[in-house]
Amino acid sequence: MGEAVRPACLLGWPVKHSKSPVIHGHWLDLHGIAGEYHLEGVSPDDFANFVSSLAARGYVGCNVTIPHKEAALALSEPDERARAVGAANTLWFEDGRLRSTNSDVEGCISCLDDNAPGWDTNLENAVVLGAGGAARAVVHGLLERGARNIHVVNRTFPRALAFRARLGTQIHPAHWHEVPALLPSADLIINATSLGMVGNPDLVLDLDGVGDDTVVADVVYTPLMTSLLKAAKKRGLRHADGLGMLLHQAGRPFELWWGVRPKVTPELRELVVKALGAD
Ligand code: ATR
Repeated sequence: MGEAVRPACLLGWPVKHSKSPVIHGHWLDLHGIAGEYHLEGVSPDDFANFVSSLAARGYVGCNVTIPHKEAALALSEPDERARAVGAANTLWFEDGRLRSTNSDVEGCISCLDDNAPGWDTNLENAVVLGAGGAARAVVHGLLERGARNIHVVNRTFPRALAFRARLGTQIHPAHWHEVPALLPSADLIINATSLGMVGNPDLVLDLDGVGDDTVVADVVYTPLMTSLLKAAKKRGLRHADGLGMLLHQAGRPFELWWGVRPKVTPELRELVVKALGAD
């Protein structure tokens, strides 16, 4: 008799465009694990019930995406990362308890480690554009790596102010009109808004005045090369794209559910690029 299949799933509303099944499917095959990764469209009204029946449905755990990340935190025992970010994207069982973490934090920092080794050495000034959920994970990752000053720029200024109240005095809330003045001393610039994503307004920054060692990253991965990353490339700066963050955030959940630490490889990236192209 074959090994019993241990499935995990993604809970979201909607979920159908997710590329997570491609990522986890590739790693499951590679490591010969009898697992599956399902997409479960679950409305906010049904979310709590679904989570409470996760084990009964046979799931070893799940990822959680929009709009459920805050609700997932409230329904589980969060680790330090999920608690600090105020949102969970991964649930798993530990000694019968439902635990949660936020692997977007690792997605950001591991992707930077991969694309710009040493990015966190002497990280004096980081500029993070955005103050939504993605930005919260990014900013927490930068704090973990010792960033001394993080300038959080947001259209809705009170959301940036809330970052300082939540995460501490290394956070400096800023308005968009301050961005040109912040860029010359930035060691790291990260777009954590939806600007530049297909169907959204573009993000155009003048990178002429930034230092040669500045690293630029974007959470957006449709398109892969956003205008921001094109500008960074043209300027000869090291840069990391949103697909790298997506791939790197998947490693920790896989390890928690199936006990193996998978690797982000060019082969995996190629597969997901193809899947994105097929949309
Ligand atoms: P996510 O969880 O993906 O971060 P979110 O919480 O809705 O999603 O955050 C989206 C981010 O993109 C916010 O920082 C948002 O700015 P506001 O807080 O002012 O809404 C930013 N954003 C989206 N569209 C924008 C636009 N046209 N101009 C400037 N910022 C924009």
